[in-house]
Amino acid sequence: MTRRRMMGLLAGALAALAATPALAEPSPDQVVDAFEAVLGPLRARPSHTKGTCAAGYFVATPEGARYSVSPVFNGQRVNTLIRFGVGVTSPTGPDTGRTTRGLSIRFETSGGDIWEMANISAPIFGSPTPQVLVDGLLARRPDPATGQPNPQAVAAFVAANPATTNQGRWLAANNPPASWATTPYWGVNAFRFRGADGEVRHARWVFEPRAGVLRLTEEQMRTTPADFLADELRRRVASGPVEFDMVLQFAAAGDDVTNPTVAWPDDRPRATVGRLTVTEVSAGPGGPCDPISFMILDQAPGVEMSDDPTLQARAAAYAVSLTRRSQPR
Ligand code: HEM
Repeated sequence: MTRRRMMGLLAGALAALAATPALAEPSPDQVVDAFEAVLGPLRARPSHTKGTCAAGYFVATPEGARYSVSPVFNGQRVNTLIRFGVGVTSPTGPDTGRTTRGLSIRFETSGGDIWEMANISAPIFGSPTPQVLVDGLLARRPDPATGQPNPQAVAAFVAANPATTNQGRWLAANNPPASWATTPYWGVNAFRFRGADGEVRHARWVFEPRAGVLRLTEEQMRTTPADFLADELRRRVASGPVEFDMVLQFAAAGDDVTNPTVAWPDDRPRATVGRLTVTEVSAGPGGPCDPISFMILDQAPGVEMSDDPTLQARAAAYAVSLTRRSQPR
C-alpha cells in the first residue's frame, strides 16, 4: 500500500470516529449546563455542595517513592488543604443520607508543585462516561408542570443505562459513615503511576482510615442530627490527629482502566504509598477550600491520567463550575 493511500485510509477512519455519536463527549459547558438544568444557576458546588475545610500534611512511604517519581511522593512533608464533603446538592442537606461523603485534597510541595484530587466514600462512580452523566442529569430535569422530574424519563434512562445503578446498590448495602474519619475514600478513576524504575503502572487509590471503618446503624440514620459531621470531626482533631493511609491497588491484565462504574477484584496487589494527617478543621462554614475546585488531577510525570473518559472530562468541567459559581448570575 502506498503511503498516500495509507494516509487517506487513516484520515477516513479518523473522520468516521469523530462522526460516531457514541464517541462524542459533551463539552465542559454542556456538562455544567446539565447540572444547572436540574439545580438552577450555580451559587455553590453542584456536587458535594455541603462541606467543611480542613488542613494537614502528607508524607509518602518508601513504597510511594518507588511507585511515583512525583515530588508529592518524595517522602518529605507535603502541606495539604482539605475539604470534607457530603454528596448533597444543598449546603444544608443531611449528613445521614445514603449518599457519598467526600475527601478533597490539595497537596502543596515545598518546591511549589500543586496536585489536587477529589475522592468519594464509594469505590465506584455513577456514570461510565461524561455523556451518560449529562443524559442522567437531563432525564432528571424538573418538569415545568409539576416541578418534579418526570418518572417515565428517569425510568427510561435507567433502563437504557444499567451501570448507573451500581453506585446506588453499593450505597444501599453500606450505611453512611459515623464520622468523616471512619470511612475509606476512593479516587475511583484509574491513573498511570510512573515509578522510580521507569515502569508505568495503572492504579486506583483509596485513603483508608487509621481509626477503622465505622458506619451509622439504621437506627442512628433516623435519630442522628442532620448536621453532625463537622462538629464530630472538630472534636476528634482537637483530641489527636486524624489519619488515613493512601493505598494503591494495581490493575491486572484485563481489568478495565476506563470504566469507573466497575471496581477491580479485591485480590489485586496493593501498596501503602503515604499517610495523610488532618491537624485542623475550620471553626465554621466557609474557609480557604471554598474558592477552590479540586481539579489539578494531572501531575506529570509522576501520576498521569488514564484513558478513562470520565477522568478526562473532570478538570475542565470543574473549572467551568468554579467560574460560574464564583460569579453568580
Ligand atoms: C464525568 C465525570 C465527572 C464530572 C463531569 C464531574 C463534575 C463535577 C463538578 C462540575 C463538580 C463541582 C466542581 C466545583 O464547582 O468546584 C464536581 C465536584 C466533585 N466531584 Fe465530580 N465529576 C465527575 C466525576 C467524578 C468522580 C469519578 C468522582 C469520584 C472520585 C467525583 C467526585 C467529586 C467530588 C468529591 C466533588 C466535590 C469536590 C470538592 O470538595 O470541591 N467526580 N464534580
